[in-house]
Order: sequence, then structure tokens, then C-alpha cells
Amino acid sequence: MSATQVLAVVNQKGGVGKTTTSVNLAAAFAKAGRRALLIDLDPQGNATMGSGVDKRAAPRTVYHVLLGLSELAAARTRSEQGGFDLVPANRELAGAEVELVELPGRESRLKSALERVIAEYDFVLIDCPPSLSLLTVNALTAAQRVLIPMQCEYYALATIKRVRAHLNPQLEIAGLLRTMYDPRNTLSQQVSQQLEVHFGDKVYRTLVPRNVRLAEAPSYGVPAVLWDATSKGAQAYLALASEILGGAA
Ligand SMILES: Nc1ncnc2c1ncn2[C@@H]1O[C@H](COP(=O)(O)OP(=O)(O)O)[C@@H](O)[C@H]1O
Ligand SMILES: [Mg+2]
Repeated sequence: MSATQVLAVVNQKGGVGKTTTSVNLAAAFAKAGRRALLIDLDPQGNATMGSGVDKRAAPRTVYHVLLGLSELAAARTRSEQGGFDLVPANRELAGAEVELVELPGRESRLKSALERVIAEYDFVLIDCPPSLSLLTVNALTAAQRVLIPMQCEYYALATIKRVRAHLNPQLEIAGLLRTMYDPRNTLSQQVSQQLEVHFGDKVYRTLVPRNVRLAEAPSYGVPAVLWDATSKGAQAYLALASEILGGAA
């Protein structure tokens, strides 16, 4: 196995499928026998809950890691359902932004913390908040590449240009992922095709359809790829993992 791949799942828009993608991809990599770490970097803690970990009960979170109050190894826990390791997040993280500004190396604190455990993993996924805040900057500094989930809507192209403009120029786009795709919706089809025309092979072949199983799995604290592996949504994320693993080989 080659070096660890660190992927930040980024889009400054909320509700585009970042968390759903992070959780299901981590579980799909685990299913494929890869050692995966998911870092929840959103104060909403949705990736934590969706991995079956109670965010309110987590004694140490990514907040403590960023502020240097805990080693990453001491803050991580296990998603028993998902088969991957998790650094949880909760509301406490919302205050980190202000506190981070004062600290040395404020943009690279996650990267430094991650360096101590990175050799233990094949994949590290970072679920980002819907903003280009100092939290997201930490993710972009720690990651080699970004995975950008996009809902197939008319403003998808404007969003991708804005995200690109803010990115570290060395940061590579791993891929654009079309989410919540509705094949019966003409606009969805058109935007999907436009993305292919503009971004070519940067667009993952795998399309994630709108699928109720993906939306309901988080309330059971089980990634959809395990909750109902036969559902169209789960199948899409399993296919995406294969596509990424194939490309990485
Ligand atoms: N492909 C999909 N089909 C149906 N619902 C989805 C899909 N992807 C995400 N969702 C639901 O849409 C909402 C937003 O998704 P989420 O992954 O939380 O987005 P983000 O992290 O970008 O804010 C959630 O309620 C989620 O369960
Ligand atoms: Mg989210």
C-alpha cells in the first residue's frame, strides 16, 4: 500500500452531501479492507452522530486536538458500525475559530496533529463545515486533495469557481462528486453534463442519486452502506470507493 491519502470533503454550501459522502466513503473504504480515519470538523457534529458516536458524550473532540489540549490519538474513537476510526466534533468546536487565531501555526494545527498517527491509515477523510473558515483552512492545509460534492443545480458552476479561487494552489481537486442526482429532472441532467464538459475527468463517473436510505441512515447512527447495502444510495458510495481505489492503484 502506498502513502496515506488525505482527502478534505469541501463545499462552502451546506446541504450538498459533504457529511453523507464522508461517512459513507469512510465505511466503504473500511468494507474494502482499508484503514480509514474520519475527522469531523463541523461543530454540528453530524458526521459523528452518523457514525454512531454520541457527540454530547465525547470526552475529547477535534476541538481539543486543534487547541493542543489533546493528542489526536487520545481524542479518536471507533465507529463500531462503520469499521473506521473517528475524531468526533460537537458544539464546542464553534468557539475554536476565535481561540485559534491567537495560536501559533493556526492554519496547520490539524496537519501537525495528524502527522503523528497518519501512518496508521490508508485514507483520512475530513468532513468540513459549510464555510471557508479557519477550520476549513486547517482541513485544506492537512489534505493533499479535495473532494467536492455538488448538488446538480444551476449554480453548481459558480460554486466550484469560488471554491477553486479560495484553494491553496498546490491543492489538487481529487474530484467533483455529483450528489442528489435526479435522472427525471432535466435541470439535474443538464448541470451534470455541463460539469463533465467543464471539468472532464475531474468529475467522478459515479453519480450519487437522491435516495431516501441515505437520508434516513444517520438517525440510526449507521452509515447507509451498512444500513442497507443494496439501496441505490449505498451502491453509489460503494462504487465511488472502488472508483477512487482504482484510480489510486
Ligand atoms: N443522495 C442523497 N439523497 C437523499 N438525501 C440526501 C442525499 N445526500 C444527502 N442527503 C440528505 O441531505 C441532507 C444534507 O446532506 P449532508 O450530507 O448533511 O450535507 P452537508 O454536509 O453538505 O451539509 C441530509 O439530511 C442528508 O441526509
Ligand atoms: Mg455536513
